[in-house]
Amino acid sequence: MEQNKRIVWPMDEPVLRTVVTTFNAPETKLLVNVFSFPKVFYALAGLQIFVGAMSQMGRKKAFIITDKGVKELARIVEKALKGVGIETEIADDVEPEVPLHVPERIAKKIGAMNPDLIVAVGGGSVMDTAKVAWILYEVPDANLTAIDPLKPLGLRKKALLACIPTTAGTGSEATNVAVVHDETVSPPRKQGVVHPELYPDFALLDPRFIVRMPRDLTIGTALDALSHAVDCFLCRSSNPISDALAIKATKMVINYLPLVLERPSNLQLRLRTQVAALIAGAAFSNGGIGTTHALAHNIGTIFGVHHGMACGVTIPYVIKFYSEVDDKYMLLAEELGLKNNTGEILQQLVAYFKNFLRRVGAPTTLKELGVEENSFQRNLDVFTRYAVMDPTGPMAPRQPTFEEMRELIENMYYGRL
Ligand SMILES: [Fe+2]
Repeated sequence: MEQNKRIVWPMDEPVLRTVVTTFNAPETKLLVNVFSFPKVFYALAGLQIFVGAMSQMGRKKAFIITDKGVKELARIVEKALKGVGIETEIADDVEPEVPLHVPERIAKKIGAMNPDLIVAVGGGSVMDTAKVAWILYEVPDANLTAIDPLKPLGLRKKALLACIPTTAGTGSEATNVAVVHDETVSPPRKQGVVHPELYPDFALLDPRFIVRMPRDLTIGTALDALSHAVDCFLCRSSNPISDALAIKATKMVINYLPLVLERPSNLQLRLRTQVAALIAGAAFSNGGIGTTHALAHNIGTIFGVHHGMACGVTIPYVIKFYSEVDDKYMLLAEELGLKNNTGEILQQLVAYFKNFLRRVGAPTTLKELGVEENSFQRNLDVFTRYAVMDPTGPMAPRQPTFEEMRELIENMYYGRL
């Protein structure tokens, strides 16, 4: 790809943003009639059932995509696939944040093997890299920066996609989006390659694949899932199915994350956080996500902060921000058992999430996240601009102006709630 040439991504186009905003208006909800979800294999027998199903479906060759950190786990999958007679090959050169040259490189290796199954074993970057490499394998001349979600893409003529997450948070195993890094602008921006055909065909949740996650990654990835769930529930594009999944996922993270932190080797508890992450992913990719991610995408890229920890910080501030135009937060408060007997339900709800972050030892402000004040002030304008233009924007219930976004970001830095 030509470097340093400004790319206009689909969601940079004001017309498309307006169309998405309108399409997601509550008045159009009766027109929305598809809810997509991968076939899910889970728990301790999941891997064997998965490889058995692949064999029964006549799959002959599997290309496994992973990174060096979790290659050992990919080897377990490889062994199981070989055990049912499926030929395998592994690429372990995924890089964090999905710069586009990486899936382009991996797609060439996939093309040389010509598999009928692609298996991603890893966290969000691995799964998103696999999605993009899958597109390039199936449609070699696809323009990744201009994928039109309203036109057929032509996937699955060569291979199906299976995702096996090794963290519990991103939900990419159940979404139609690959978050990628646009490095042609400075600082880089996160963008989404989005298409309805991008939902993986299969997801496999095996708690043994996440049980060794360190404490910080366990917290960060769970907070990513929590933000997917809470934000989706409040989004204007949410629907009754995404609402049900989002509420369940919210309660599961709140109930099980503290228990996992107490008993990190307990597979039952780990599995529950995996299920929470998957259903939160299915919720937001079918029901929308908004300002938590417009903010977190840019906290991550501009200040080099872990995506999940950044997501966690945003939750109380975004609830408060949305509340000025939409009272759906009252339903969320009710679901969480907060009683509206003081007339201050919003403050209770905001405090509930802030206290939860404190309870699991997560930061509650950008300052606590470790962002230096000088760096924050220097980058405030570009942060605000990127956040306003983030592709998640049109699904949020409140479309912030530049000034409103800036104030929200400053509140998040200084802890003004
Ligand atoms: Fe996320």
